[in-house]
Amino acid sequence: MWLSNSSVGRKFVMALTGAFLVLFVTFHCLMNSIAIVWPVAYNSICEFLGANWYALLASAVLAAFILIHIIYAVVLTMQNRRARGNNRYAVVRKPKTVEWSSQNMLVLGIVILAFLVVHMIQFWAKMQMAEIAGTVDVIPPAAGTLFLQEAFSLVWTPIVYIIGFIALWFHMNHGFWSMFQSIGWDNTVWIPRLKKIACWWATIVVLLFIAQAIVFTVKAREGFYKTDEALRNQYKEMLVPMVEHDFGPDAIQISQAIKMMPYDQLSPAVKQQAEQLKSQLNNPEAKAYFNQSPEGKKQLETMQKQADGFNKLAGFFMYLEEGQPQTEPAMPGMPAQNPNN
Ligand code: HEM
Repeated sequence: MWLSNSSVGRKFVMALTGAFLVLFVTFHCLMNSIAIVWPVAYNSICEFLGANWYALLASAVLAAFILIHIIYAVVLTMQNRRARGNNRYAVVRKPKTVEWSSQNMLVLGIVILAFLVVHMIQFWAKMQMAEIAGTVDVIPPAAGTLFLQEAFSLVWTPIVYIIGFIALWFHMNHGFWSMFQSIGWDNTVWIPRLKKIACWWATIVVLLFIAQAIVFTVKAREGFYKTDEALRNQYKEMLVPMVEHDFGPDAIQISQAIKMMPYDQLSPAVKQQAEQLKSQLNNPEAKAYFNQSPEGKKQLETMQKQADGFNKLAGFFMYLEEGQPQTEPAMPGMPAQNPNN
């Protein structure tokens, strides 16, 4: 087949997949910029791009393009090295005509791939994949800003990301114009113009990514994504699907309460309820009473389910309020409350 057997065909595949990846990276960068100016809207986009069929299809196509791009890159590099034979390093003698990035596209690609592995573990695995696999932890998968909080509060994250962005700049800058050359657009007027466009494009995208990494790091260190009132009120709405899944017959009532109560009232109420259910279930007399009849046993089961659900909700609120100044507990045995609540 021409696309895989001929050198021109392989270069064409590299160009096509590369063009798609440039568009994805540009779109991704613009989408992330929304998290700087309007974090609530960013989470709504994350929710929209969750585990829906259209988002899954787009992710599968993207993964296929990345894979093809990598496989063809390795094949083309090996083929070029074989063609040069023992004279492989002779190219070093003509660096003026061959740009540094063009000689190092494979190495740059490997650095970007290493960045991507870290990046997927920090975000995709806990968001889209967790939703598909049913391995959601405390944080709802649609709460993109909380994953920013988790990732960018680690000291090494901005360093790893900025190394990845620099490699991306060189890789995109060279790849952008050379893909036009690969598809036969080798023109003395247009290639210099395309080189300029490539440089501007890669610079804007990478500067935006760097600005995002800086802003996310500063805000994560302030705990902004956990404490902002508008975000907290959005996170509580994200708990509704979990409630509908976990709470059985009382789900509708509890979902309504979550929707209607502001975060500052909901959080203490949920923690109080979790604590009350826990102490009821730990009371041997109450347990013995319920275990007397089959109806009682059923009631006990429902209570256990509710207690687990409330515990999960309370755990999420406690995670958001971690490290905040606490006041006296609302009632004996209850977790302490934030003075702002
Ligand atoms: C500050 C920089 C970045 C941030 C904050 C960021 C954030 C995110 C988030 C939140 C997701 C998960 C979306 C979801 O699963 O719903 C994601 C996915 C992804 N990111 Fe990034 N990203 C950044 C930079 C990059 C760069 C530079 C690349 C490429 C070189 C990249 C490639 C990807 C890919 C391939 C996915 C998977 C997309 C999918 O499954 O459809 N990201 N990113």
